[in-house]
Amino acid sequence: MPESSFFARSVPFEQIDKLAISGGYSSIYATREPAVPVVGNWEQRFCRLADTFQPVLDRVHDFEVREDDVWIVTLPKCGTTWMQELTWLVLNRCDFETAKSVDLTIRSPFLEFNGVVPNVPHDTIEAANALSSPRLIKSHLPAWLLPRQIWTKKPKIIYVYRNPKDAAISYFHHWRGMVGYQGTKDDFMHSFIDGYVNFTPCWPHVLDFWQLRHEPHIYFTSYERMKTQLGQVIEDVARFLERPVSVEQVQQMKKHLSFESMRDNPACNHAKEFESMKAAAGREVEEFSVAPHRFVRRGVVGSHKDEMTADVIREFDLWSDVNLRDYKLHMDDFATYSKYNEQAITKTLL
Ligand code: A3P
Repeated sequence: MPESSFFARSVPFEQIDKLAISGGYSSIYATREPAVPVVGNWEQRFCRLADTFQPVLDRVHDFEVREDDVWIVTLPKCGTTWMQELTWLVLNRCDFETAKSVDLTIRSPFLEFNGVVPNVPHDTIEAANALSSPRLIKSHLPAWLLPRQIWTKKPKIIYVYRNPKDAAISYFHHWRGMVGYQGTKDDFMHSFIDGYVNFTPCWPHVLDFWQLRHEPHIYFTSYERMKTQLGQVIEDVARFLERPVSVEQVQQMKKHLSFESMRDNPACNHAKEFESMKAAAGREVEEFSVAPHRFVRRGVVGSHKDEMTADVIREFDLWSDVNLRDYKLHMDDFATYSKYNEQAITKTLL
C-alpha cells in the first residue's frame, strides 16, 4: 500500500458532542510538504473533517486533473452554487436550456461529496472522471488537500469568499436542514469559530487562496461582490476564462442568476443532494423542503445582523482580528477585492 498523503488525529469527544452529530471527526494533517505553499507552517496545518472523508482524501489527492478544467473552490455556504451556475453558463455559451434541464450536480460535480454522504451509489469522483471537457468541478477542500496535479497543470480556479459571520449563519441552517443538527445556534457558532465543522478552520482556507490571487490561473472574488456587482463579476469570469459574453447575454444571465430564479430552479437548488442526505439520515422529506432549511435561503449580505447575538458578533470580530492582523488585513478587504482593478491589488503584506 502506498503511504497516504495525510494522517488523522481524532477530535475530542466533547467537540463532537457539541456538534450533535453521530460518527467521528478528525483533524487531517499532511504527511509531507504540500505542492502548494500554505500560510503558516504546513506541518501544523490541519483541516477538520468528519471521519467519513478519510477514504476519499487520497482518491481526491490523486485525481487526474486536466489543464482545461475549471474549479470552483469555496468554504461551504459562500455562494458556491451561485458561482457554479454562473461559470457553467459562461463556459457553455449561455445554454439556458441545458442549464434548466440537467441538474447542476451532474453538470458540475462536488468532488468529495462521497465524504459527506458515503453510502450513496453515485460516486462523485468517478462522475468527475467521466465528464467531458471542459469540466467544471466544485470542491470545499483547502488548497493543500486538493488534487496535487492542480498545482502543476494549473487549471483555472475560481475562489469565492463570504463574510464568515454570514457564512456561519447559513452553515448553521444547512446543518439543521441537511445534517439534522439539533444543538443550539451559539454552540454551532463556537464550533465554527474553533474550527470544528467540516472544511474549517476558516481563515487559513481563505488566506491560502488570497496569497495566490495574482496568479493568472486564480480568480478570487466574493459573495458580497456578486450581490452588488453581479454583471461585473460575470464579465470578470468571462475575461478570466477567455469566453467572451455579449451585453445581452449578461442581461439574460443576471435574470437567470437572480435569487428568486435560483430558488425556484430545481436544477440548481440541490434537490438531489437533499434526497441523498435525507436517505442517509433516515428522516422525513418535508423537513428539508421547508424554509429556512432550503438551500437557496435568504440570499442577503449581513444576515448575521438579525440572526446572531451581539456577543457572538463580537467574538467573530475578535477572532477575525486575531487571525488577520499579522497580515494587516480586514474582513472587508476580501469582500471588495477585484482582480481586474489593479489599484486594489497592493494593499497587503501577503
Ligand atoms: P443564505 O443561507 O445566507 O441565504 P452555497 O451554494 O455555497 O452552499 O451557498 C448557499 C448560500 O448562497 C445561501 O445563503 C443561498 O441563499 C445563497 N444563494 C444561492 N443562490 C443565490 C442567489 N442567486 N442570490 C443570492 N444568494 C444566493
